[in-house]
Amino acid sequence: YKRVTTNSLVEMKANGEKISMLTAYDYTMAKIIDGAGIDVILVGDSASNVMAGHETTLPITLDQMIYHASSVVRAIERALVVVDIPFGSYQSDPKEALRSAIRIMKESGAHAVKMEGGKEIKESVKRILAAGIPVMGHLGLTPQSIYKFGTYTVRAKEEEEAAQLKEDAKLLEKLGCFGVVLEKVPAHLAKSVAESIRIPVIGIGAGNGADGQVLVTHDMLGMTHEFNPRFLRRYLDMYSAMTDAFKQYKTDVKSGDFPNEDEQY
Ligand code: KIV
Ligand code: NA
Repeated sequence: YKRVTTNSLVEMKANGEKISMLTAYDYTMAKIIDGAGIDVILVGDSASNVMAGHETTLPITLDQMIYHASSVVRAIERALVVVDIPFGSYQSDPKEALRSAIRIMKESGAHAVKMEGGKEIKESVKRILAAGIPVMGHLGLTPQSIYKFGTYTVRAKEEEEAAQLKEDAKLLEKLGCFGVVLEKVPAHLAKSVAESIRIPVIGIGAGNGADGQVLVTHDMLGMTHEFNPRFLRRYLDMYSAMTDAFKQYKTDVKSGDFPNEDEQY
């Protein structure tokens, strides 16, 4: 396998090749995703919701992110592994941000970090990049700011917020970020941002004009059936498939059908 690097992603954009990205938080899932040839694996702080059952991404800790990331890294042969720096471990000052990024890189073996925000995290992004750590941005609906937004609805529908988002994307490019996630923004805005910068724009709920797409793996597999945003395409109905399997197992245990003669020593 030729490993995916931050440079290969920028080249893919230049060549008009769309970038595929999915989340993973554990070894087994990451191995399947990497084996399928997905370009980028995001150890997202969505682990807070998906793995731990929290309502928001805010509670997950740096130590927990490092645990998830190191499990994912052990599975990977080809994909680029990007890790979210969790809420509270980069916002207070650039030194803290750098310390958090260094811990992620050193203790997990991941290849890059992702941070939410634009101009307000400029100094932290600079400092992390200066240490040789690749940074991916994240703009639009940034879930670590959910209590500021008060709603999970589409961002940057108004001109003022859209203009700020465009400026922030350009700033992230100028600072040296290798890409930026745009979450839940109008398709025309994501398209115009993608056209205005050379680094790839990876969309989630941001339409087809982005340079690549990311989804939460558990959502696209249909494991999370209560979550139904318009942007989500489900490639499997794992919720039903797993429920059927669990029920069948129960039936087989209760009836004494499992294990049979071939399944014992
Ligand atoms: O944490 C996450 O899964 C993310 C993606 C949805 C972009 O940040
Ligand atoms: Na995230």
